[in-house]
Formats: sequence, C-alpha cells, structure tokens
Amino acid sequence: MYTQLQLRDSDRPPVTLGTLARMKDQGEKIAALTCYDASFAVLLDAAGVDVVLVGDSLGMVIQGHETTVPVTMDQMVYHCAAVARGLHRPLLIADLPFMSYPTKERALENAVRLMQEGGAQMVKLESGGGQIEIVEFLAGHDIAVCAHLGLKPQSVHKTGGFRVQGRQEEAARRMQADAKALAAAGADIVLLECIPAELGKRIAAESAVPVIGIGAGPDTDGQILVLYDILDITSGRKPRFVRNFMTGAGDNLEAVKRYVAAVRERGYPAPEHCF
Ligand code: KIV
Repeated sequence: MYTQLQLRDSDRPPVTLGTLARMKDQGEKIAALTCYDASFAVLLDAAGVDVVLVGDSLGMVIQGHETTVPVTMDQMVYHCAAVARGLHRPLLIADLPFMSYPTKERALENAVRLMQEGGAQMVKLESGGGQIEIVEFLAGHDIAVCAHLGLKPQSVHKTGGFRVQGRQEEAARRMQADAKALAAAGADIVLLECIPAELGKRIAAESAVPVIGIGAGPDTDGQILVLYDILDITSGRKPRFVRNFMTGAGDNLEAVKRYVAAVRERGYPAPEHCF
C-alpha cells in the first residue's frame, strides 16, 4: 500500500524544548494537535504542526469508548510507535494512560516504555498537587514532562463529567499554584484543558514554561485540539472550543495548514470558542 512516509525527510530542524521556550519568549504561538497513526503524522508534519500528542483521547475517537479510562499502556505504546514513524519535525508527546502512574516507580517504568518502545520525546500526565513528587522523579531521571491541569478526562467518574474547571476563585487559585509548583518540580510544559480564558491568561503570564491550552482561551502560549474534531470526523455534540477547519478546505492537509495558520495569526480561538 502506498504511504507518504518519504515526506518525513524534511530539512527543517526538529522542534525541541528550546524551540518552544524561544517561541514563548517571542510571543510566537505553538500549534499542537493530537495524532494516532503514521499517515496522519506525516500530514501533520507536512502542515507545520509544532507539537504532536498521542493522546489517550484515542480511547474515545479511535476505540469508541465513552471515556479515556479503558486505554492501556500497550495501546498507547502501539499508537505512539506508529505516529513516531511518520514524524520528523514536531515534538512527540505521549499520554500516560489511566492508572499507569499511581506511584513514581510505575510512572518511570511506563514513561520509559513510551520513550523506548513508542519513540515519545515527552510524557504527559494528568496532574495536580498529588503528582508533584512523580513529576519531580521523572524530571530527576531527565524525562521531559507535560503536566495536564484543568479538566482531567481520566478523573471524570470522580469529578462528575466533562465540565469547565476553575470557575470558582478558590479552584482557580489552586490551579495557578499547581501550575507553578509542577513547573518548579520539573514539568517542561503545562497543558490546560477547559478553563475560563481569564485563568488561562493568568497561568500563562506567570509560567516559566510554555503553556498550551485546549478550551483555555487565546492567551496561552499555544493551542492543541483533537485532530478528528478539526477534520469534522468526530460525530455527536462538539465542545464549545472546537472549530471545524474542513470548512472551505479542499482536503485534510489544507485543513491542518489552516489550523496552524489560525493559531499562529491568533485567529483561533475566537471569543465564541472560549469560556
Ligand atoms: O488525550 C488527549 O487528546 C488530550 C488532549 C485533549 C489535550 O489530552
């Protein structure tokens, strides 16, 4: 079967943490997307995406589950390895799935799997005050870490559903403090999901590390969306922050290029995508 893997051989230098730090400093927005297979990975690379996340959202968009909870380590490694084969320039992050990091030792073991077997360059974990020690432990082993705050899909059965987080001042202050503490513990990126735009702005402004948002307003250092949402593949009701980039685009590549351009030029997210 014909694939376009040769498109990977780009002469643009790979995105590193240094690239992202420079982009934050210079106010250049970071464009990130999720991805689950090699063919789309090639396309995202060709479209100029900076950061690719093999998200455990694959449990919902690929496997058809109601939540991300059923996703296993073996499945994450499988999809991550496929994506890694298609990428050259973007930084590759992979999610540690539900209950793969209950202790710092298990977190390390599973982060190593995502990196050695899956080819990930960074691991992401849904975080809070309780994960500071784990982040510190991973960072102490020179593993790049993305700390996910705000709406944490792995916790939906405990928190009561997919809801905007940090609306109350006390919760907002706690999230601000967690973001700072996680970066101080060694997190290299903070990811904020589904929070008021004003809170996204505050956290990004005081963060020493790049802050990437999904439904966190226009003032984070970058944006991430689920690939199948921007390509209008996901069925059913879409979250408020989703924009269909297939509208007016001739094909998938053009849609992803439009997404990258909209993030860079601050056309996305618009007020109607914010909380
Ligand atoms: O799993 C995922 O796709 C994510 C994004 C929603 C950021 O964590």
